[in-house]
Amino acid sequence: MLIPEQEGIIVLDFGSTYSYLVARAIRDQKVFSVILPYSTPLKEIEAFGAKGIVFSRPEQHTGSEDLACDPGIHHLGLPILDIQGDPARLGQEPLQDFLFPRCGCDGQWVMSAFLQQTVDHIRRQVGDKKVLCGLSGGVDSSVAAMLVHQAIGDQLTCVFVDHGLLRKGEAAQVEQVFKEKFKLNLIAVNAAERFLTKLAGITDPERKRKIIGEEFIRVFEEEGDKLGQIDFLVQGTLYPDVVESSTASAKVIKSHHNVGGLPQDMRLQLIEPLYWLFKDEVRLLGAELGMPEESIWRQPFPGPGLGVRILGEVTATKVAILQEADAIFTEEIRKAGLDRQIWQYFAILPDIKSVGVTNDQRSYSHTIALRAITTQDAMTANWVRLPYDLLETVANRITNEVKEVNRVVYDITTKPPATIEWE
Ligand code: XMP
Repeated sequence: MLIPEQEGIIVLDFGSTYSYLVARAIRDQKVFSVILPYSTPLKEIEAFGAKGIVFSRPEQHTGSEDLACDPGIHHLGLPILDIQGDPARLGQEPLQDFLFPRCGCDGQWVMSAFLQQTVDHIRRQVGDKKVLCGLSGGVDSSVAAMLVHQAIGDQLTCVFVDHGLLRKGEAAQVEQVFKEKFKLNLIAVNAAERFLTKLAGITDPERKRKIIGEEFIRVFEEEGDKLGQIDFLVQGTLYPDVVESSTASAKVIKSHHNVGGLPQDMRLQLIEPLYWLFKDEVRLLGAELGMPEESIWRQPFPGPGLGVRILGEVTATKVAILQEADAIFTEEIRKAGLDRQIWQYFAILPDIKSVGVTNDQRSYSHTIALRAITTQDAMTANWVRLPYDLLETVANRITNEVKEVNRVVYDITTKPPATIEWE
């Protein structure tokens, strides 16, 4: 993978949970940084051509980690800074003192420069070949597609698979933004029926996820095949994924699939234009590319979409009920100006009906659950203390406007023990 033609700092991770924050703190000074495990061979460390090394040590420093690190590192002649635990405790001054006078960095790591470098690199890499990109409408795949489009224009074809489990109006919005506004070569496939047919009668959450994931790849491959010779595939891999997979020992709690994931037998070379970026840097890049706010600030949305928010069997009717309720919740959160402060907020359709009184008649209808959470990294999460008035408005509107719903509840569970999604 291309290393940006930038002076950089290596953050050598000795198992500290703060290594991300150390790398971020360095980037905040407009200096590029990479995180490497302490066991990285000396040769690889040298190959980075870094200007300095920061040792990121755990808070409980035992000293035994020193033995694990190649002692030759001290002879590389690079300045070394030792940070234990949270870099915020160190303060800005010692870090700036290290980066500028000691390492001689010039603090030029800005998005406009990264954009230009990456565009040049993609042009050289691709030449006159053809490139395919799975566009989900999410921030990462959208920014990746826009960046590659800026580099090679119509040599890029994007495929957007609408599995029918998107939020209300989402498919139309993706087409409007990317096809009509930015003139990307976009193939939008409406495969809703196909997915619903496959999901008919299926209630097990993991089976549902698997079916959606597999069918997604199948549709994507079929579209790819129609395009003839393709040489490259764009993936919206971000730097935290790279670091995590190099140190990963995490258990799979739910099988995640990423939209536009790499089909196994396509034998395509990968273009990963966001490889070095953290999430907020991706947003900055999106702004640099002129993308609209709704695309840049779109909240995370799971690949299997509403399929994991409809408990039990997924049917067209249930999708429509959930889309309506979710759209009302979204509208009210936006009206209240809370959308940027909340990591994720959405409606769920549990597999229950309950008794109510609707228009003076006994009703036996669906329940909608609302969830709004804040988190740093989606590994743990807390529920948002939404104003009661807002919750009241949302509940009134949903029960009045979505006739199949007679009850609305608010999910007040943290993660753990719950997860953010309900399936
Ligand atoms: P959970 O439910 O595991 O969710 O607490 C953590 C975060 O991951 C998102 N999520 C997914 N994202 N494909 C994705 O790309 C998936 O299959 C998937 N499942 C959950 C979820 O929305 C939350 O932000």
